[in-house]
Amino acid sequence: MRISIEKLQQWKQEKRPIVSLTAWDYAIAQILDLAGIDIILVGDSLGMVALGHSSTLPVTLDEMIHHTKAVCRGVNRALVVCDLPFLTYQSNITQAIESAGRIIKETEAGAVKLEGGYPSMIETISRLTEIGIPVMAHIGLTPQSVKMLGYKKQGITQEAQEKIFNQAIALEKAGAFSIVLEHITEELGTNITKTLSIPTIGIGAGNGCDGQVLVTADLLGLSAKLPPFAKSYANLKEIIFDSVTHFAQDVREQNFP
Ligand code: KIV
Repeated sequence: MRISIEKLQQWKQEKRPIVSLTAWDYAIAQILDLAGIDIILVGDSLGMVALGHSSTLPVTLDEMIHHTKAVCRGVNRALVVCDLPFLTYQSNITQAIESAGRIIKETEAGAVKLEGGYPSMIETISRLTEIGIPVMAHIGLTPQSVKMLGYKKQGITQEAQEKIFNQAIALEKAGAFSIVLEHITEELGTNITKTLSIPTIGIGAGNGCDGQVLVTADLLGLSAKLPPFAKSYANLKEIIFDSVTHFAQDVREQNFP
């Protein structure tokens, strides 16, 4: 049975840290699930780490659905959350319902994630949750706004901190079951986490969040460039390079098979 939203709420109460990682295919998803990762996010970062784009902006809904189906085939336990890609939910509420509805109908994902905490997004989340689609929100650094925000840390000034804090409160009220807090100060991440009753999942938001998420390609040392808040636990790029060059050498020297 997959981890439920109620279970995540319970873990927040119990102060049991929630572990989340991204996945983009069956093989990675299977390993993460076996390792006991609680939330497997099919993030639109797959546009960069799996499809080679320079940002998440070109990712399509069809691509997200295709990758989410593959991830779900590898998962028995984790809650699978699928990102709504850029311009598949911001135009109006009908567009958001149709896009999120496709994810829920066509894949085995348990929830969708969307970026932003501005008033129209609050309304969208309210409507999606009203019709039974669980929504994870995402504020702070929102990569779909890269052309406006860059990849800089957010919530630096008092005014910006207040804005993000108020967005978090409004998102909880609108019905979001959890919020990703990306690249904000530890103080702000901790304050939001202490104030909300829904779990916060941090990425570059300090140690005070209810859980942590990383892009799995960063963790494995597969990404071209590591964000300042990420950590590589392995250097798979080197391991894969060594393995394939060894194989090539064996074939050329007729040592394989
Ligand atoms: O797309 C993604 O991988 C994400 C994480 C950075 C939270 O949204």
